[in-house]
Amino acid sequence: MFDSGVGGLSVLRALRAELPGVRFTYLADSLHAPYGERGADWVAKRSQAIVQWLRQVHRIDALVVACNTATALAIDGLRARHADLPIVGVEPAIKPAAELSASGHVGVLATRGTLGSERYRALRQRLEAAAGRPLHIHDQPCDGLAGAIERDDAEAIERLGLQHVTTVRQATPALDTLVLGCTHYPFATEVLQRAAGPGVRLVDTGEAVARRTRQVLGLEAAAHGQPPLAGSVLLTTGEPEALTAAARRWLGWHGEARRVVVPDAA
Ligand code: DGL
Repeated sequence: MFDSGVGGLSVLRALRAELPGVRFTYLADSLHAPYGERGADWVAKRSQAIVQWLRQVHRIDALVVACNTATALAIDGLRARHADLPIVGVEPAIKPAAELSASGHVGVLATRGTLGSERYRALRQRLEAAAGRPLHIHDQPCDGLAGAIERDDAEAIERLGLQHVTTVRQATPALDTLVLGCTHYPFATEVLQRAAGPGVRLVDTGEAVARRTRQVLGLEAAAHGQPPLAGSVLLTTGEPEALTAAARRWLGWHGEARRVVVPDAA
């Protein structure tokens, strides 16, 4: 699995509960984070290079694209080039959010890359066509927020979280559901929930992605627990200390992350 950085750990947290026997290779491309404001071609090329490397060096059997931005901009190309590899992506949970929303007013927090993608536009259009009632979806590009979470910059997380959620609330006063459409954002839940207020439900995708991955791998549901990620490795193109600290804090992981070099594809 890979993400631009530490955000995909929110997906790994759900995966390890759903798939206790599986060994995960997690790659944080932190040297290049954040992806969200980089542009479609760059994200598509970099994702190809990463998957080629994960296959050659780590012999992965399946891939989870633990990044909404990379899913939105690269997953079609990855599936085309790696037709023999089971691939699961992560997309903003607007469908479950619309089902949960009483008012039909839903906010979507995500990167500019995700919200501007053709894939997201089509997902939203399909949902609106099938909804059977008027839906009011407010897309909010959260510039800077994933980067602040990546740097573990508490002041910036607080300021940007408040700023972006306030923009959604002002545009959508009847808001009752807020989608966390970037895998970094669950790590800012406390700030986002406080900014949104107690009447707004936050919706994350980690557990749905974990269930989908289990189905794709053809594995039985296991008793949920918090197994120790035995045999799994955490790799980063950035600072190993940052990934180790994030995994320790959010997953209770006791290992050390390793730095790796993932070349751009030839
Ligand atoms: N965690 C990623 C996502 O889900 C990317 C955030 C970023 O790198 O901008 O979109």
